[in-house]
Amino acid sequence: MTETKQRHGSARSVYLPATICAIGALLFGYDTGVISGALLYLKGPLGIADNEFLQGLVTSGILVGAMVGALTSGGLAARLGRRMMTLIAACVFALGSLWAAFSPDVANLVLARFVIGIGVGLASVIVPMYIAEISPTRIRGTLTSLNQLLITTGILLAYIVDYALAPWEAWRWMLGLAVIPAVALFVGMLFMPETPRWLASRDRTDEARAVLERTRPPEEVAEGFEEIRAAQRQTGEQLGWRDLTAKWIRPALFIGIGLAVLQQFVGINTIIYYAPTTLTQLGMGDGASIAAQVGIGTVMLLFTLIAVRYTDRIGRKRLLLTGSTGMSVSLGVLGILTLIVGASGQTVAVITVICLATYIASFGATWGPVVWVMLPELYPLRIRGPAEGLATWSNWAANFVVSLAFPVVLGAIGQGWSMLIFAALGVLSFVFVSAFVPETTGRSLEGLETDLHEGPAKEGIESQQV
Ligand code: GLC
Repeated sequence: MTETKQRHGSARSVYLPATICAIGALLFGYDTGVISGALLYLKGPLGIADNEFLQGLVTSGILVGAMVGALTSGGLAARLGRRMMTLIAACVFALGSLWAAFSPDVANLVLARFVIGIGVGLASVIVPMYIAEISPTRIRGTLTSLNQLLITTGILLAYIVDYALAPWEAWRWMLGLAVIPAVALFVGMLFMPETPRWLASRDRTDEARAVLERTRPPEEVAEGFEEIRAAQRQTGEQLGWRDLTAKWIRPALFIGIGLAVLQQFVGINTIIYYAPTTLTQLGMGDGASIAAQVGIGTVMLLFTLIAVRYTDRIGRKRLLLTGSTGMSVSLGVLGILTLIVGASGQTVAVITVICLATYIASFGATWGPVVWVMLPELYPLRIRGPAEGLATWSNWAANFVVSLAFPVVLGAIGQGWSMLIFAALGVLSFVFVSAFVPETTGRSLEGLETDLHEGPAKEGIESQQV
């Protein structure tokens, strides 16, 4: 990349690489969302209609793959770079989607879903990392929220595709269509730059400067460059997995893992993965429950837009606390109502829909995007790969645990108490954020790194424009 001084960026140039990379998040959302609808139609042809274990494998294979992907991505991203890892993730997505679409039997489908899961795991680490590292501080939250915006868009798209292809029972197309965004991601990323921060960490300073020139307006280049150089001088060599046990990194690791696990423990995916089943059990017809699912996806998407607009203005911490409150209250009301009145009747149905909507809106505007925004921010450049990889792995592990446990818990204690457990976990998320989570809004990644070594800056939010 020796195109220094040929092209100068503008204030908006950085939107392009951020958006292209976020196609990885669209695939994350599409591939996790598509299976609930596809499952209805592949049961017969693949002979898994009566086998709940095989159905579970097809559904959760992606989560196991994602755990593997998240864990391997961090170390590789440190060595190969963020751009190369995105290209690799695109290939894995494309391969997995085609394999799934042409699976001759259920064993192949389970393996294909596992491979797609590896792509999802890679994307869940790399996309927020790439975007955070290429962004200037003043719009970093907005740009990194694109990750969740595109996850949500992918989920909604999957629901719509499932709905549209349902008359033909075309499950192979539902799964296979993901190859299109995968190819788009690969081709797009070929033309996008590596992040200036990773280049600087490899002492490729000229290239780092060239990327800054290409992606920022001229007046912001020198400042950005200086910040990165300062961090480079301060931090020294790249660290690996073993260094995650060092004392100075432990608090940040604890906070990242706590946020990642709690994002799942508030129960969002019990709705994303099981809503149609739950709604049909409540007596809704197939068509109405798919329509309700599209409704859920739409509410989530609209509220994620709020986060895209406001994370840099309102602040991550305040958003998280607001979200915890909204989710706990919605689930608490729903749980108590179900326990007292039971789960049927017109009024109960209306209140249920309202509570579900406020719950989804609360998550969509806060915990959904903000956790993905904060994970790369919490860790210094030289250990960001392994640390973010580990925190993201714990997000997938928690997702796996909740997805497996939910049907069992629901069967054992019923909907009312299940909702109250999630409400209590919502309260726990509030306590965790108030007690431990620092505000990262408006702070440069390098400023946050200094805090880890020297303790938090006294004056809370500062405005370093990197
Ligand atoms: C977040 C969660 C993911 C969930 C999604 C729903 O990205 O990490 O598990 O499916 O939100 O929008």
